[in-house]
Amino acid sequence: MARIFSGIQPSGELHIGNYLGAVKNWVQLQHTHPGSLFCVVDYHAISGNYDPAVLRARRWEMARSLLAAGLDPSKASVFMQSDVAEHTELSWIFTTLTPLGDLERQTQYKDKSAKLESIPAGILMYPVLQAADILLYRADTVPVGEDQVQHLELARDTSRKWNARFGEGFFPEPQPLLTPTRRIMGLDGQAKMSKSLGNTIGLMESDEEIWAKLRPAMTDPARVRKIDPGNPEVCNIFQLHKAFSSAAEQANVVQQCTTAGWGCMDCKKVLHTNMVQELTPIRRRAEALDAEPQRILDAMATGAQTARAIAQETMREVRERMGLETLTLPKA
Ligand code: TRP
Repeated sequence: MARIFSGIQPSGELHIGNYLGAVKNWVQLQHTHPGSLFCVVDYHAISGNYDPAVLRARRWEMARSLLAAGLDPSKASVFMQSDVAEHTELSWIFTTLTPLGDLERQTQYKDKSAKLESIPAGILMYPVLQAADILLYRADTVPVGEDQVQHLELARDTSRKWNARFGEGFFPEPQPLLTPTRRIMGLDGQAKMSKSLGNTIGLMESDEEIWAKLRPAMTDPARVRKIDPGNPEVCNIFQLHKAFSSAAEQANVVQQCTTAGWGCMDCKKVLHTNMVQELTPIRRRAEALDAEPQRILDAMATGAQTARAIAQETMREVRERMGLETLTLPKA
């Protein structure tokens, strides 16, 4: 069976953008693929400037969010990247196989480095660490969004190079498993939903808070009720219906929107009802975790333990094949 690994940055509490874009899919995959691994990639989060206190808080929030969202430590391993030292060990090994040009060609590197006067080498090496994350568990299937496809290509190159030199067939060639939901735009309808842009709905927000954000949210600007029919496809609220409403309700939304049956407020109210229905159990689980925060620590400790066992076994074999095993007496 496929081995699934994915990672998420410790950006703090999940919002519906990263929930729909990644984590919701992971929650489903843990049932079909027991033994999947989901990692909070805190070493990736220090490749730029950061504040340790903020990172500490965000790691906690992300761990709490992942469990609240429904990742179940009895089905999947949820863990902190820095709790498994082998990630950095394999990453170093992979830097020795990765052509600098391949790293400089990464879109994400070009975007990030263009804004910087002095570029930390860690930003360049970011995809090497990502390849190590995946291959450490010899994972072949990586549920991610479109923006990670280039990084996975690099992971496959790395795998092929290592195998060619040190052992054919040892590492798999990991493929992206693209998340079904299209990227979620922010409430302004202008840019991808992202914490730094302040256009998010938090996964744990109350029903009232969600409504306060949906009410003024951007719809199809060209729609004028009873004069100009709306175009649901360009409307961000309809994109959210696709994530939260049933197929029958989505069809009704299209009908009501394009015939001026509903005003945008009516449409948003239906969306709100459906969002609340999906998000309430998540908020309840978060509340239960807050009442018993030790459960978060226990889940992360169990996850790290399982991950470490696999990682250590991979590294044992890697070091052996590379001539790096613990020194033994030369044969006489
Ligand atoms: N780069 C990914 C992102 O920004 C996070 C990540 C790090 C990751 N390591 C990974 C994703 C390994 C999948 C597999 O979203």
